[in-house]
Amino acid sequence: MLVCHCHRVSDAQVGSVLDAGAARTLRGVAKATHAGTGCGGCLPKLRELCDEAKARRAGPAHGDEIAV
Ligand code: FES
Repeated sequence: MLVCHCHRVSDAQVGSVLDAGAARTLRGVAKATHAGTGCGGCLPKLRELCDEAKARRAGPAHGDEIAV
């Protein structure tokens, strides 16, 4: 799904950049993809994607472990 309409950047592209470690912050995503450098309307969604990637890197929250 297109996240940044100004620069035609998808959520998958942003996720790739974050998961590959090419960027870890909103500023890094903007530098890597140009998303968020136009009107700024996508910044809340970009922030959300950054937070989700950060949570993925951190692993499951305490108490969310899956019993095996
Ligand atoms: S929609 Fe991303 S900068 Fe405008």
